[in-house]
Amino acid sequence: MTNTITKSRIVEEIQEWKEKRNAILLAHNYQIPEIQDIADVLGDSLALARAAVDTTADVIVFCGVHFMAETAAILNPEKTVLLPDLEAGCSLADSITADQLREWKAEHPDAVVVAYVNTSAEVKALSDYCCTSSNAVDIVRSIPEDQEILFLPDMYLGSFVERVTGRKNMHIWMGECHVHAGIRPYQVESVLSKHPDAELLVHPECGCSTSSMYLMSEGVLPKEKTHILSTGKMVTHSKDSQTDEFIIATEVGIIHQLQKQNPEKRFLAANPDAVCPFMKMITLEKVLAALKENKHVITVPTHTAEKAKRAIERMISIG
Ligand code: 13P
Ligand code: SF4
Repeated sequence: MTNTITKSRIVEEIQEWKEKRNAILLAHNYQIPEIQDIADVLGDSLALARAAVDTTADVIVFCGVHFMAETAAILNPEKTVLLPDLEAGCSLADSITADQLREWKAEHPDAVVVAYVNTSAEVKALSDYCCTSSNAVDIVRSIPEDQEILFLPDMYLGSFVERVTGRKNMHIWMGECHVHAGIRPYQVESVLSKHPDAELLVHPECGCSTSSMYLMSEGVLPKEKTHILSTGKMVTHSKDSQTDEFIIATEVGIIHQLQKQNPEKRFLAANPDAVCPFMKMITLEKVLAALKENKHVITVPTHTAEKAKRAIERMISIG
C-alpha cells in the first residue's frame, strides 16, 4: 500500500515537473510497465526518433538507451535531451567502434554504409544511411541495386534484409544484441508445439529470425501466421489481427502494452528470460531526478553531429 502511494506521488511529481519544464517523455516499448504507462509517446526506435523531431517541448526525457537519446540530441541540438541513467547502454551498439568501421570501409572503398540506429554517434557520422528494424528493407531497396553495401552491426537483421531484398552485394558485420541472440529456434519450436494455432511475431534481431524465415520458405511455419516485425509493427499487427493468441519473440517488456491494448488476447514470450538489463535501468525515481536535477544531459560534438545527422535524416524520411 505504502509502495503504491509512493509510486503515485512520484508520478504526480513527474507530471508537475514536466509542466514546469515543458518536457516530453519518450519511452521505448521495452521499458518497465510504470514508465510505459506514463509516457507521452511509447514506440519503437523509428517512432521515437520521429517524435523527437516533431515535438515542441523544450526538454526531451528519453526513457530508452544511450544511442536513442544521442539520436534525439543530434536531431535537436537546441533542445535539452535527458537520459535518466547514463549506464543504459546497448550491447549491439558496442559491437562496432568508429575505428573498426574506418578499417572496414578501407577494405571496401566503393561501398555505401547502412548503419542500424543501434550505433554510436561516431559510427553514424561515418555512415551514409541509418535504418531501424522497421525500415531497414525500404532503406536498402532505395539504394541502386548494383551498389555494394556495408550493413552493420546486427548480423540477424542483415541476413533478414538480404533474404527479403535478394541483394547479393551486401557485406554484413557480425554483431548481435545479446538479448535477441538468446532467443533460440528450439525455444520458439517448444512454445509453438504447445500453441499450434498461435501467430508467431519475431523481431529481426533475434537468433531465431533466420531459421523462422527458412522454415517459412520450406512451408514448415505457415506464412500467414509468421511475421518478422519491428516492435512498433508488432503493436499494430496484434491489434489488427483476428488471431487471439501470439508468441512474441523479442524483449519481453513489450508484452505489457500488447496485453494492455488487447486484454482479450493472449501473449506468450518465446523466451521469458529475454530481458534487456539496459532498458530496465530507467525507473520512475530516476525520471523524476532527471527532470528536477537536469541530468544526464546528452550532447554530441557539432562536427560528429552534423555528419551523423545526414544519415539519420535519410532514416527518418524513408519507410
Ligand atoms: P525497434 O524498437 O526498432 O523494433 O528495435 C528494438 C531494439 O532492440 C531497440 O533497442
Ligand atoms: Fe540493445 Fe538489445 Fe537492449 Fe535493444 S534489447 S537496447 S539492441 S541490448
